[in-house]
Amino acid sequence: MAVTELRNVSKSFGSVRVIEPLDLTVQSGEFVVIVGPSGCGKSTLLRMVAGLETASGGQILIDGSDVTGKEPSERGVAMVFQTYALYPHMTVRENMAFGLEMAGVSKAEREQLVLKAARTLQLENYLDRKPKQLSGGQRQRVAIGRTIVRDPKVFLFDEPLSNLDAELRVQMRLEIAKLHRELGATMIYVTHDQVEAMTLATRIVVLRDGRIEQVGPPSELYADPDNTFVAGFIGSPRMNLMPAIVHAGDGEGHAVIDVPAMGLKAFSAPLRDRLAALPGEAVFGVRPEDLVWARDGEPSDITLTCEIVEDLGSNVFLYNAASRDGSIVAELPRGVHPAPGETVRFRISDGASYLFTEAGARL
Ligand SMILES: Nc1ncnc2c1ncn2[C@@H]1O[C@H](COP(=O)(O)OP(=O)(O)OP(=O)(O)O)[C@@H](O)[C@H]1O
Ligand SMILES: [Mg+2]
Repeated sequence: MAVTELRNVSKSFGSVRVIEPLDLTVQSGEFVVIVGPSGCGKSTLLRMVAGLETASGGQILIDGSDVTGKEPSERGVAMVFQTYALYPHMTVRENMAFGLEMAGVSKAEREQLVLKAARTLQLENYLDRKPKQLSGGQRQRVAIGRTIVRDPKVFLFDEPLSNLDAELRVQMRLEIAKLHRELGATMIYVTHDQVEAMTLATRIVVLRDGRIEQVGPPSELYADPDNTFVAGFIGSPRMNLMPAIVHAGDGEGHAVIDVPAMGLKAFSAPLRDRLAALPGEAVFGVRPEDLVWARDGEPSDITLTCEIVEDLGSNVFLYNAASRDGSIVAELPRGVHPAPGETVRFRISDGASYLFTEAGARL
């Protein structure tokens, strides 16, 4: 277990800067998940920690010692990739023992470490099989086993589950959570999957164009985003974001606003910064689940025309195509199925909306 520290770390490929100088400290035993759009630099960041890519600037420290110039094998880290990269001609046992053999670990000790890891990962019955005789999930467990046997200070995962089908993903997600708990190891994990990020992370790092947009516990990023990018990126379906006009602040931590795309007038929107409400243009945000369906006779804030209803079984979503920035999405109670063209009224949950500047910063 080890603290991993990135100090002012940057990366350029030729003249192209892909990671802007950034600082990040991952505490011992933490599970940090890095998310962000394709090409934002997630893999590059992880590969620099692993030593597979050289940092163009800054320092990387593991357990207080500077590993910036060190070889991957000298850093005490182990990485699991999206493609398992197992040796096809070797058995599970040989695949898991290979790194240890290279490191000069004795045969008896190798055997013991492989067995222990195989037990943790429920691979004992597969030790003599070749990778092609395994399912995708089993192969990915072998890839993880290969890192466990080396008892690394830091585990690095680069989208380890993205090649698996939905059901296996769920299973492996739970296994990785268990593994983290059992080993108490430091893990840095890259994923595109919202659920993986929200459920596995002690903290999520949102990366965009090589810059950190926000770092925090999943619930904090969800409930208290710093900007429209994080607000739109964390959560599925995403937060509704629409142009708004701010009339004035009420001096009590609210701004009085209109949101034309929603037909919302003189709405009192909560502010993070009670002095922030300057009259002018802004962006209003509200999550689908915070648009609460109003029964007949109940008060409401907005009326939406139903274009499409998506029933996922556990959740029902209404899509309204009126907004010029895409549809407004609202969650409906189970069993409520308005027809296309029908109008439906919603209340906005108290305190559950957001206001941002036109440029995207939280107000
Ligand atoms: N060896 C390289 N040479 C030049 N450019 C590179 C190299 N490796 C990555 N890049 C560029 O750096 C940027 C970041 O790439 P990276 O692989 O880190 O993105 P990512 O966030 O992991 O994306 P994805 O989600 O698609 O895996 C991209 O624009 C990519 O094209
Ligand atoms: Mg990547």
